[in-house]
Amino acid sequence: MNTTTTVSNADFLATVAEKSDGAALRGDYSKADAHYVVSQDWAAYTEEEHAMWRRLYQRQMALLPGRACDEFIDALQAMNAADGIPEFEKASQQLFAATGWTIVAVPGLIPELTFFEHLANRRFPVTVWLRTPEEFNYIVEPDVFHDFFGHVPMLFNPVFADFIQLYGKGGLKAMQLGGLDQLARLYWYTVEFGLINTPQGLRIYGAGILSSGGEVEYCLTPGTSSRHIHLEIERCLNTLYKIDSYQETYFVIDSFQELFDGTAPDFTPYYDKLKSVSPLSANTLLPHEVELLPAQ
Ligand SMILES: [Fe+2]
Repeated sequence: MNTTTTVSNADFLATVAEKSDGAALRGDYSKADAHYVVSQDWAAYTEEEHAMWRRLYQRQMALLPGRACDEFIDALQAMNAADGIPEFEKASQQLFAATGWTIVAVPGLIPELTFFEHLANRRFPVTVWLRTPEEFNYIVEPDVFHDFFGHVPMLFNPVFADFIQLYGKGGLKAMQLGGLDQLARLYWYTVEFGLINTPQGLRIYGAGILSSGGEVEYCLTPGTSSRHIHLEIERCLNTLYKIDSYQETYFVIDSFQELFDGTAPDFTPYYDKLKSVSPLSANTLLPHEVELLPAQ
């Protein structure tokens, strides 16, 4: 590791520690290269860890049929990831053949610039470590189950895969334009907590829900206090989100092409406009907005 990387590592870790009230990051960053990439070291996972992966996988698969979108279910089943923590190298070959994306192993959260650079080059960073048994139901930092189970299957969809690359390029631009807070909300409400409208009803494509034990059912339950509204890009960019509870708003798309098309334009006018506008709270419902999952 060169000196520049060491300094930027230290800066990054200090920044994250500050943001999370002094709590240290979980991962081992000492072996990370300049792009925060590490070796997965698959042989080092214990049998207990593989067993917990299987329990997490089985819990989700008891919930997801009829709730997750077909694109997710089909890709997940083709990946054969039910038996234990997957080998990234093998999954990466499969993914590359499908959409030209690869998986890179990372120690945990990584700096925004590095994250966007990976996405812009069709590399998806996946954390190597698995949560502890005490964290079976809830984990603060993303682990291998969230990153791999939640995110990787969607990258097999060509349009979604192109959208994520576009998002990475947009992230690099947003860093120059002061639009990171706004752009992060789009990621949150789509890649992490997005719903899609299908002829069979609303379905989940967001990784934060797909890898969660409780929100899978909650987000599709009519009559809760949460909103389910059609995605408008500018509205989403200006909406705050909750990180410590189920979402108060779910943004719904009609197709992944819609998501790609909405993200393709230059966001500079949005950022310029939103700089002088107060963000909306997470539970806002604007007068023209229609609840797409009405109470029955
Ligand atoms: Fe995620």
